[in-house]
Parts: sequence; C-alpha cells; structure tokens
Amino acid sequence: MSNLAINGGEKTVPEGLIKPWPPVDETDEELVMDALHSNKQARGPHNKALEEEFAEWNGSKHAVFTNSGTAALHMGLVGCGVGAGDHVLAPAYTWSSSATCIMHHNAIPVFVDIDFDTINIDVDKIEAAITPRTKAIVVVHLHGLAVNMDKVMAIAEKHDLKVIEDACQAHGATFKGTKVGNFGHAAAFSLNQNKCLSSGEGGIFVSNDDEVTAKAKQLWSFGETRAPEESRDYHAYALGWMYRNNELTAAFARAQLKKYPWYFETLRNNGHLLHEKLEGVSNLIRPTEPEGHEHNWYNYNLRLDMEQIGGGVDPLTLRDAVFASLKAEGVPVSVWQKFILPEMTVFQAKNAYGGGFPWSIPGADEGVEYNPDDYPVAKKHCNSYIAMVQALRAPNGPEVVNYIADGVAKVFENIDDIDPEKAFS
Ligand SMILES: Cc1ncc(COP(=O)(O)O)c(C=O)c1O
Repeated sequence: MSNLAINGGEKTVPEGLIKPWPPVDETDEELVMDALHSNKQARGPHNKALEEEFAEWNGSKHAVFTNSGTAALHMGLVGCGVGAGDHVLAPAYTWSSSATCIMHHNAIPVFVDIDFDTINIDVDKIEAAITPRTKAIVVVHLHGLAVNMDKVMAIAEKHDLKVIEDACQAHGATFKGTKVGNFGHAAAFSLNQNKCLSSGEGGIFVSNDDEVTAKAKQLWSFGETRAPEESRDYHAYALGWMYRNNELTAAFARAQLKKYPWYFETLRNNGHLLHEKLEGVSNLIRPTEPEGHEHNWYNYNLRLDMEQIGGGVDPLTLRDAVFASLKAEGVPVSVWQKFILPEMTVFQAKNAYGGGFPWSIPGADEGVEYNPDDYPVAKKHCNSYIAMVQALRAPNGPEVVNYIADGVAKVFENIDDIDPEKAFS
C-alpha cells in the first residue's frame, strides 16, 4: 500500500517552508527609493549604472537595459543585420519568443531538433538546416545550461552566419570558464520574475561588437542614433521600437545584481545537492551538466524514464499524474512548455502579420515546413518533463533541498502506485 500524499499519505514538504523569490531587503529598498525620489524616473543614472555594472559582471563590452528579454533578442537580430526573408535557425523546443522574435523583423524561423541529454539545440543537426538563405542562428542556453559554443561558432564561421545567444535563463552559466553572452555576436538576458536575476520585468542586450550594438541601440529607441541622455535630434534614422526601461526598475535590478554572487553560489550548491540526492532514483532521468559547462540550475528538469517504466502507458497522461502527485507531496513543480514550437498555431497557420507575412515574401518560405514529426527528440522531451524553477534559489538552502529530494524520490520510486484516474479526480 503506497503512502503517497495523493493516495492519502502524509505530505513530504512542510507548508510555508519554501521562501519566495526574489529576496528583497534594504539594498533593494535603498536603491529603489533613491530612484523614486530622484525626480528622474527615465533615462537617469540608475540605467547608466546598471548597464556598466552588468557589462562588467558579465565580462561584455556593451550592455543595454531593455523592457524585456524578447526586446533584447529582437535587438540582437537587427544588430546582426537580419532582415526580411532571411532564414534564422532556432531550437524546436524553447520559449516561444526565442523564435517569434525572428518574425519581428520579417525573417523566417527554421527549426532544428534538440539533443535529449542537454535539452539544447542539437549542434550536430545545425549544418543540415543551413541553406543559402540562412543568415543567423539563435542558440538558447536553456534551463541555464550553456550550448557547446565551440561547435556553434565553428559552424557559424564556416557558413558566415551571425550567432545570437538567448541567455534569458542563463545568467552566470559558463562554457569552458567563460560566461554566456560572450560567444556570439549579440546576446539577450531576461530579468522577469522567474529569472535568476529579476527586476520584475526587464531585459539586457549585450555584445562585444561596436557595430552590432550601434544598430541594436537604434532599434531600442525610436530609430535614433543618439543615446536618450544625450542631446537628441529626434530623428528616426531607421525603423525603431521603444524598448527602453525606467529608473525604478533599473534600481531594483542593480540591487539584485549586487546580490547575484550569493544567488549563484546558492543555486550551484542546492542544484548539486539535489542532483546527488536523486542519483539512482528509479524511473527518473536527471538533467546533465557535461564537462566544461557550469549550469546555473535555473530550471531543474525531472524527466520520466519511459524505457524503465515500460510500455502500455501514455507518456503525457502519466506525466500529468506524476506532476499531480509531486504537487500533493508539496514539491514545487510546474509544467512550462506544453508544445514544441513548430506545433504552435503561429507557425502552423503562418499567421504572424496577416497576408501570410513574413512567409509570403517572395522566395522566403522556400523549403520551410513546420512538421512537428520532424522534431521527435523535442517532442519526447516535451511529453516527459516536469520543471522546478524557483525553490532551489536563495534564501532556500539544504533543508529545503532535502525535503524536495525526499518528495521527488517518494513519487518516482512509487510510480506504480499512481492511478491517473484518481490523480485527476
Ligand atoms: C529562453 C527564453 N527566451 C526568451 C524569454 C523572453 O524573456 P522576456 O519574458 O523577458 O521577454 C524567456 C523568458 O520568458 C525565456 O525563458
């Protein structure tokens, strides 16, 4: 007889144990109050300081504060000269805007399947997707694990492609000792509340390239060429958006960035501890951290080992029942993407701008198909994962991790005791 909480047993993780994200203290209060009372809530000193501090922290030449990670991605594409009808490669499993940002400038996303172990773009499948129309690759350091950037940059050089790093989930993650955001021609970080560095909403564009940054900055502020704090001529030199952010948010981001060394160390320690504790748990596939990659454990993925579990079970039904069982134990899990990107309506219906644009640009959709069956690995992952996003972060420590590990092990070890019918009743 199982003692799973979903079957009436005792819940594993005590109520109220897990502290919410992000921690807010006097550092945040001081800086935000300073911005509030400064009588300069836009284009002020906190924006400037944040950009300098983030650039220094990440080891990047330029940083531009934006109102979202998606805005920073769009800036990266435009900075790299991507335009109407160009093809841009992106992974078939990621956040939607890793690929929809490509359409913001009338370019066409072309998907590449993922690698099951890393859950990142399969670097060995990139070359087969390149055509004469391909202009760039968006690589996503998903869940905080860096893509193998040696391989990506070698392919990019060989085919003369630009690389935009979607580092929205990967603050502080490294590949061979270098922080993400420093390999490609441009990169984007998100500062929304789910992220390891949060200012509620927001984003940061980074680049080590002066020309890429200048073009990206034009897009950021109405197509102008002068920084908003400089004497402006209010002239649109190119098509621009309004992607700037305000002083209060910049001040909050600065305060959070000051605490990032603590956040990162906590995540690393908690991630390692959970990883160790889950070693050998049946029916579970743990995430990987290949040699040379330093994970930030933004999102610790628990995957059902369908081969061990055996046939005759619908993976999605079982996943949802396991998810409900983990919730019943008090394990703070979530399910994020329920679809791989090529399955999403915007791609299936090609309905971005009406009139079939951008695909109806002459010659643009040549060879572009969004057939979900072409991405079996992305689909396999998407149907078998359960996510854990915030609980491993500061101020939570080993006590929380131990409870979580116990709850996860209890559910996965007793998977046969889960009755999907009962789990949803
Ligand atoms: C991988 C990835 N890319 C892009 C984004 C977009 O960031 P934002 O929500 O700040 O626009 C997110 C976050 O939502 C993300 O997780």
